[in-house]
Amino acid sequence: MSEQDTTHFGYRQVPKDEKAGRVADVFHSVAAKYDLMNDLMSGGVHRLWKRYTIEMSGVRRGQRILDLAGGTGDLAGKFSELVGPEGEVVLADINASMLSVGRQRLTDRGLVGNIEFAQVNAEELPFPDNHFDCITIAFGLRNVTDKDKALASMLRVLKPGGRLLVLEFSKPRAPGLGPVYDAYSFSVLPTLGAMITGDRDSYRYLAESIRMHPDQESLKAMMEAAGFERVDYYNLTGGIVALHRGFKF
Ligand SMILES: C[S@@+](CC[C@H](N)C(=O)[O-])C[C@H]1O[C@@H](n2cnc3c(N)ncnc32)[C@H](O)[C@@H]1O
Repeated sequence: MSEQDTTHFGYRQVPKDEKAGRVADVFHSVAAKYDLMNDLMSGGVHRLWKRYTIEMSGVRRGQRILDLAGGTGDLAGKFSELVGPEGEVVLADINASMLSVGRQRLTDRGLVGNIEFAQVNAEELPFPDNHFDCITIAFGLRNVTDKDKALASMLRVLKPGGRLLVLEFSKPRAPGLGPVYDAYSFSVLPTLGAMITGDRDSYRYLAESIRMHPDQESLKAMMEAAGFERVDYYNLTGGIVALHRGFKF
C-alpha cells in the first residue's frame, strides 16, 4: 500500500478509509465516562481551556454557532446561553454515542429551543455556504482523517466576518515540561483510562494522537492554506494546548 493510501491512527499507519471507524470505536467505548475522564485527566483544567475559548469567540446574542466534534456539549451548552432564544447552536459530531450523551446532558440542564443536534463528518459539512457566525472544534481536529478537507468545509459554511476556533492539544513550550508531560501521558493516562473506562487502548491512542498532531506553527499554516485570514494562536498551560483562531473575510 502506498503512503498516499495510509494515515496515522496514533503511532500506527492504517488505510485511510479505516481511520474513521477506529476513531468511532474509541468514542463509542469512552462516551459514557468521557466527562468524568476529562476532569480526572486534566484536574479540571479543560474547563479553563474551554472558558478561554468562549471568551475568545466573541459570540453574541442572536448569532448562529456550530460546535463541531462537539461531543458531550461543553461548548455548545455555554453558547446556547450566550446566543439566547433568537440565536442558534448546532452541536455536531460524527459519533452517535457522544451526541446522545451530549443531548441528554444539555436537555437535563434545560437547554432546549435553540440547540440542534447533527450527526456529521467534519470533512463534508451538510450546511449551506456562509451560514455560521462562529465555528468551534475542541479536541476534535486531531481525530479527523483529512484535516485540510475539514478546514475547507468549515471555511465554506462560515459567514464572511465569521471565525473558526480550534482548541487542540499541541506542543509543550514551557522549559522542562516535555519529559514530565510524556511520562504522564504514556503511563498515567492509559492506567487511569483502564481503571475508569476499562479501555486502556483508547487512552494510549489519546497520548499517541496528540504527538502526531501538527504543532502550533504547522496548524497555523494549514489554516492559512485553507483560506483563513488573520490566523493566530494562544498557548495554554505551557503549550500543552493551543487555541488557534482564524477569520473568513
Ligand atoms: C475528544 S472529543 C471532544 C469533544 C468536545 N468537543 C470536548 O471538547 O469535550 C472528540 C470528538 O470528535 C468527534 N469526531 C471525531 N472525528 C470526527 C469527524 N470526522 N467529524 C466530526 N466529529 C468527529 C468524536 O466523535 C468526539 O466526540
